[in-house]
Amino acid sequence: MPGLTSNSSVTTGSGSAAEPVIDVRGITKTFGETTALSDLSLTVARGEIVVLLGLSGSGKSTLLRHLDGLDRPDSGTVTVLGAPLSGLKGRPLRALRGQVGFVFQQFELVGSLTVLENVLTGALFRVRGPRLGLWGYRRELKLAALGHLDRVGLLAQAYQRADTLSGGQQQRVGIARALMQNPRILLADEPVASLDPESSAQVMALIREIAIDSGLTVVCSLHQVDLALSWGDRIVGLRHGQVVLDTATQGLSKQNVMEIYGRVTTSTGELDAIETELGTELGTGEAGEPDEQSELDLATSSSAWDNRR
Ligand SMILES: Nc1ncnc2c1ncn2[C@@H]1O[C@H](COP(=O)(O)OP(=O)(O)O)[C@@H](O)[C@H]1O
Ligand SMILES: [Mg+2]
Repeated sequence: MPGLTSNSSVTTGSGSAAEPVIDVRGITKTFGETTALSDLSLTVARGEIVVLLGLSGSGKSTLLRHLDGLDRPDSGTVTVLGAPLSGLKGRPLRALRGQVGFVFQQFELVGSLTVLENVLTGALFRVRGPRLGLWGYRRELKLAALGHLDRVGLLAQAYQRADTLSGGQQQRVGIARALMQNPRILLADEPVASLDPESSAQVMALIREIAIDSGLTVVCSLHQVDLALSWGDRIVGLRHGQVVLDTATQGLSKQNVMEIYGRVTTSTGELDAIETELGTELGTGEAGEPDEQSELDLATSSSAWDNRR
């Protein structure tokens, strides 16, 4: 695996710094015949803003789920904020997961509830007993939720049903909900894959601003090279569940990334898929509508649009 990682002409990411907040060592995860992650190692230092870049099926979501303890590896270890996840169950696991916020591709809001109630669900791990609408939440939590809504620019929509908002607004609610945990780490799984380019740019900028303001460590999966380059501090490229690229974005061009992907591609079909998915630079991609079908279609679909800025 080290032979596949990055190339010597680009700067290595700073993830190997002392006291990583995320330390993944040699994890393998299989689902039946499918190897989703293969002897994958990754360290992320405090405050880093890391993009996981890769085609559909490369293992991005599976890796993010391991960082949150939602999935367990077949072998290898995952240590988050100094705690080995494999040893944690019950309350200690919930406590650790409370420090890790998660932003989902499809927002995962309850459309029939108000925006404020959706944000409050981010505090559920701290609330005991049944909750009847807003009455079940303490005043401090409601004030905190309103503060987070203000932070994402949606205070005026607090009492509106979530399903009346645009996609970009719904994802901002998703971010406010994650902030209710006061997380130290923010994981985001293709947070803008369902959004138009303008809303995507707003949501990504907001995540970065909040991360920097609050000193969060961020790991965010994306499939657009341009967006990854302009947004992240470090790109970790995944392919077939392995890290094939790990580099600071500074000084890195789209061409560098494409070359590295090209070098580790094993078939022409895969290269075609990369060209289609990762951009229009090579003359094969087409700008199209956002794909509502989820990431599974992206490798073969020309609607895998490129968020160019
Ligand atoms: N729960 C699951 N059951 C079976 N296969 C899965 C499951 N989760 C992921 N996989 C497979 O693991 C591989 C990696 O998937 P995933 O992590 O979702 O990739 P990505 O998020 O990069 O698209 C894919 O081949 C996918 O089909
Ligand atoms: Mg995914």
